[in-house]
Amino acid sequence: MSAHTNHTHSTGTTGDKSYTPAPDEQRAQKFVEIRIKRRDRPDAPQRWEEFRVPYRPNLNIISCLMDIQKNPVTKDGTRTTPVVWDMNCLEQVCGICTMIINGKVRQSCSALVDQLEQPITLEPMTKFPNVRDLAVDRSRMFEHLKQVKAWIEIDGTHDLGPGPKMTQDEVAERYAYSRCMTCGCCLEACPQYDEDQYIGPQAIAQVRYQNMHPSGRMTRDERLEGIMGDDGITNCGNAQNCIKACPMGIPLTRAIYEENRETIVHGLFGWLKK
Ligand code: SF4
Ligand code: SF4
Ligand code: FES
Repeated sequence: MSAHTNHTHSTGTTGDKSYTPAPDEQRAQKFVEIRIKRRDRPDAPQRWEEFRVPYRPNLNIISCLMDIQKNPVTKDGTRTTPVVWDMNCLEQVCGICTMIINGKVRQSCSALVDQLEQPITLEPMTKFPNVRDLAVDRSRMFEHLKQVKAWIEIDGTHDLGPGPKMTQDEVAERYAYSRCMTCGCCLEACPQYDEDQYIGPQAIAQVRYQNMHPSGRMTRDERLEGIMGDDGITNCGNAQNCIKACPMGIPLTRAIYEENRETIVHGLFGWLKK
């Protein structure tokens, strides 16, 4: 393809006779080797493509992907389509850039090239529908948050006075759950989470988060019922992969333990309240 010659200049491929790097550049020229699992459409087969990105200190995976987007030429010089992925905050807060990097699910904005073995492999998460390349559709997670009513009902916007008191321990535990960024790492790592048969640890932790709040307790039973169906909390096999995979250190197994207890009590005695 004609694009080959045009683009090997910017990638600095030494095999291209038309390009002679300056002596300094020659000495310093290093590349990052990246293999990306790609898919053109949701129903298209996946394939691997290999890229080389000029190395710079402190590169993260998103910077590499941006370089590839500017110059979508594979390692062997073939022009290809720009790689698609999602990003937003670039500081490990929004969770949208999550993908599998060298076999481990994590955020690509905080994954530094200097800390990764090469060739670096990038794959989309496997527990969500793969829309294109590294982009997945995580709407199932948000549906689960609706299923468990992961919010606190307020009655109007008038001043209700000072809020109810909580102990420092409760505040600390709730703070931990509040840091969930709906990234999906815990679901990717969970052996039980697949094809919607298990609601998963992320939604269960949000039940704990809202049910601990004195106002949230008013709709506690509805939340418990949200995790008691066929896809509910009893599907957890206690493999504990979720807590190891969570980049925010959320105490997921504690939430599962507490909510398991709450649902059992609710299942046994909940009818008394009706
Ligand atoms: S403890 Fe295991 S089965 Fe339960 S949610 Fe975590 S990873 Fe999944
Ligand atoms: S619990 Fe942790 S791993 Fe799971 S979605 Fe929230 S932040 Fe991500
Ligand atoms: S872009 Fe928001 S977490 Fe990476």
